[in-house]
Amino acid sequence: MNRDHFGSSFGVLVAMAGSAVGLGNLWRFPYLMGTNGGAAFIILYLVMVFVLCLPLLYCEFVVGRRTQTNLITAFSQYAPGSRWSIVGILGLLGAFFILSFYPVVGGWSIDYIVRAIGFEFRDMAAAPAAEFEQMFQQTMAFSPRSLIFHFVYIALTAFIVLAGIRDGIERYTKWMMPLLFLMVVVIAIRSILLPGAQAGLDFLFKPDFSQITGKTFLDALGQAFFSLSIGCGSILTYASYVKRSENIIKLSSMTALTDTLFAIIAGMAIMPAVFAYGLSPGEGPGLLYAVLPRIFAEMPMGSWIAILFFIILFIAAVTSSISLLEVLVSVVIEKLRWSRKKAVILMTLVCWVIGIFSVWSSEIFDFFNNFSSNVILPLGGLLLVIYVGWVADFRIFEDEITNAGRLHYNRFYLRWVRFVIRYLAPLIILTILLAGVL
Ligand code: PHE
Repeated sequence: MNRDHFGSSFGVLVAMAGSAVGLGNLWRFPYLMGTNGGAAFIILYLVMVFVLCLPLLYCEFVVGRRTQTNLITAFSQYAPGSRWSIVGILGLLGAFFILSFYPVVGGWSIDYIVRAIGFEFRDMAAAPAAEFEQMFQQTMAFSPRSLIFHFVYIALTAFIVLAGIRDGIERYTKWMMPLLFLMVVVIAIRSILLPGAQAGLDFLFKPDFSQITGKTFLDALGQAFFSLSIGCGSILTYASYVKRSENIIKLSSMTALTDTLFAIIAGMAIMPAVFAYGLSPGEGPGLLYAVLPRIFAEMPMGSWIAILFFIILFIAAVTSSISLLEVLVSVVIEKLRWSRKKAVILMTLVCWVIGIFSVWSSEIFDFFNNFSSNVILPLGGLLLVIYVGWVADFRIFEDEITNAGRLHYNRFYLRWVRFVIRYLAPLIILTILLAGVL
């Protein structure tokens, strides 16, 4: 079968960065940072991303590009004869789990775009906080309205994936990602210029280490996995459509950098405004949907900023969910030999039905959200490094990352990567995972 491919390096980068940049950066990162002490959490998070997770990103990239096939087949091919295709199945489970709550949050973003366009927040100016909280509760409640937005969101995700890699995923992420950056920078500037914004910048950039607890480590690790899309096959699947001449280290590093940069700019868009209006960053998951609209209601030009903000949220989310759906779809296409159309329809329906449970119950929603990022993704990552570092011949990794010796890197850097993959990453992930679960 002739497989689809990305058309250019830029196409690969925007697709991968599109997968990485998402609700993780805009919705999860700010509330985790808010409840874990701000700057101290950011520092811990940066260490997790660049020391630990970047080599993991290389691993997923390598397995995908080397085998040029779907998640399940990839793990049986990369180390032939081993029984490690189980890692692929765990990844598949992770993709299902995330797709069962992610589109719910994506649906809220469409709901809020509609509210913003109708100037609903402006009309609520000076209303007490409880009203905004109530609006968010209403949005989340199991109702025809929330079901419709959840469905619309999933359908839009399916629409892009249906068109394939080059004509779908690459084509849409190519303009969505630059636009996303531009828009979030505009909001960050607006936010920093508000009187009283300084306190928010202090919160972001002046660490208070007394806030760090054991839970902070697990949250930072889980968030790093979630935000970089590691551990459930999204990067692997995209990498399987990448040509052999591309530079894996460069593309992975740029993906991680873009994702981190976006998270920090998003923090600069949100926190200064939160502090300028004397609100609390420690609100948890409601920060974006219950707290921000209050600010938009008061802020000069807030109605327009609100529309822009929720469009950003939607775009960021959709460029991530397509990478999750593609994991499932590519498995069905290649394992069951179905057409893309049939595979997309089936997988979308399955995710839609499971997602309805998350709309219905916030306990189920929380379970999918926390269990996938704090357990499945780190576990998937742990198995991945053991697989690449020990089960398979490590020379395959070295061969692939250097494009069979054609690309040259600093010898010490490659040794460091090898050390992280074989020793440091398994040890740290296992420790944090056990400490967090027990
Ligand atoms: N990285 C995405 C985000 O930050 C979520 C995601 C996780 C996407 C795992 C794909 C795989 O929102």
